Amino acid sequence: MEFKISYNQVDTDIVVMGEFEDSKQVIELIEILDLPKNKKINITFLGANVIPKIVLERLFILQEREKCVVFVLKRYLYSYLQNIGIKCKCIEKNCTLKKENRKLSDKKESLDKEEVYSFLKELNIIYGYDYTEYQIDSIMRRINIAMIKEGICNFNSFREQVLSNENFFYNLFLDFSINTTEFFRDPNVFALIKTKILPYLNSYNHIKIWCAGCSNGKEVYSLAIMLKEAGILNKTQIYATDINPYVIEEAKNGIYSTDSLDKDISNYRNAQGEKNFVEYFSINRSYMKVKEELMKNILFFQHSMISNGTLNEFNLILCRNVFIYFNDSLQEKMLESFNNSLDNNGFLVLGKSEGIQRNNGEKYFCKYDEKLKIYKKK
Ligand SMILES: C[S@@+](CC[C@H](N)C(=O)[O-])C[C@H]1O[C@@H](n2cnc3c(N)ncnc32)[C@H](O)[C@@H]1O
Repeated sequence: MEFKISYNQVDTDIVVMGEFEDSKQVIELIEILDLPKNKKINITFLGANVIPKIVLERLFILQEREKCVVFVLKRYLYSYLQNIGIKCKCIEKNCTLKKENRKLSDKKESLDKEEVYSFLKELNIIYGYDYTEYQIDSIMRRINIAMIKEGICNFNSFREQVLSNENFFYNLFLDFSINTTEFFRDPNVFALIKTKILPYLNSYNHIKIWCAGCSNGKEVYSLAIMLKEAGILNKTQIYATDINPYVIEEAKNGIYSTDSLDKDISNYRNAQGEKNFVEYFSINRSYMKVKEELMKNILFFQHSMISNGTLNEFNLILCRNVFIYFNDSLQEKMLESFNNSLDNNGFLVLGKSEGIQRNNGEKYFCKYDEKLKIYKKK
C-alpha cells in the first residue's frame, strides 16, 4: 500500500494509507494536524506499523485536549500505541483475540513437527527469513497463536495463505519476534558492566559496542546511560540491531510509557545508577522521551544476526534473551560468529537463562562471570 493522506475538511476525517517513508510525508500530516479545528478529528492509519515520533507527540497533545480519536488497521501499531499510552481503536477483524477466535483454539488440530519444519524451509526460500534453527516448540506455539488470530484452524490452509500472501507472512513474522524487554533488565548485569567492564574499556581511544536483538531500545538506552555516567559515551559507537524493522523504528522514536517508571527507577538504582533516572528523559503526563544526548552515539538498524552476516571489531557485544529462541546448533554458530566479531579481550553478555555449556561455546569463550552470563573471547 503506497503512502497517501486523504483529508476531508468538512467532517475532519484524516486517512493515512501505507507506511511513512520520508520526512516530507511526516510534514504533510503535521501540517494537517496543526490546522485549527473546532471539532474532534478522526484519524485512521491504514498500513502503518509504527508512527514517527513527531506525529506521536501531536497525537498525545490532541488526546490530552480530547480532540482526537485514533483508528488503526494493523494490530502491531495497535499494541505499540496502547503500550506507549495513545488511546486507539483497532479496525482489523483479528486485531485482538476475539471470543470466537479463542473458541478456535479448542478446535485446532495439533501441529506436526516435520510439517512445520518444511514450512519454515519454504518461508526461507520465499521470504528470505530463516527460522529453521529456532526452537521448534516455541515456533509451533507462535504458529498456533497466529492461526487463532487469523481465525484459521487447519495448518495446511494457514500454510498456503502465508506462502502466497506477503501480508499474512508479515503478521506471522511479527508473531515470531518476541520483544519483551525493560530498562536495566537484570540490574546486577548492568552494575557489573559499570563497575568492571567500562573502566577497562576506558583504556581504549575509541569503543565499539554491538547490541544484537535490541528490541525497542530500552536495553541500549540503559547502556548509554551507564556509558554517560562513566564519562565515555562520547568516544563510544553503539550498533543496535534487530530482525524486526518496527522495533527499530520504536527504538529510534525513543518514546515510552511512564506506566513502568517505578520499576525503571528501581532497576536503575539496583544497577548502581548515580543520578536521577528521569533526568535522561523529557517527561510528559503519560509518556517519556529519551533525550538527544543519549541517542547521538547509537546507530539503530534492521539486521538478522543469522542471515545478514557479522559486524566487526567490537569491544563488547550484548545479545541477551535471544539465544533462548535458538536451538543449540544455531547458538554455536552465533557464538563462533560473535567470537569473530570481537577484538582480542572482547566481552560477550548473554541473557540470564542462556550460556555457553550446551552449545560448545567453551570453544570460543571463557567465563568472566558465569552467574551473570558474561564471557570473554578466547
Ligand atoms: C526477548 S527480546 C530481547 C531484547 C533485549 N535484548 C533484552 O534482553 O531485553 C528478543 C529480540 O531478539 C530479536 N531477534 C530474534 N531473532 C533475531 C535475529 N535473527 N536477528 C536479530 N534479532 C533477532 C527479536 O526481534 C526481539 O526483539
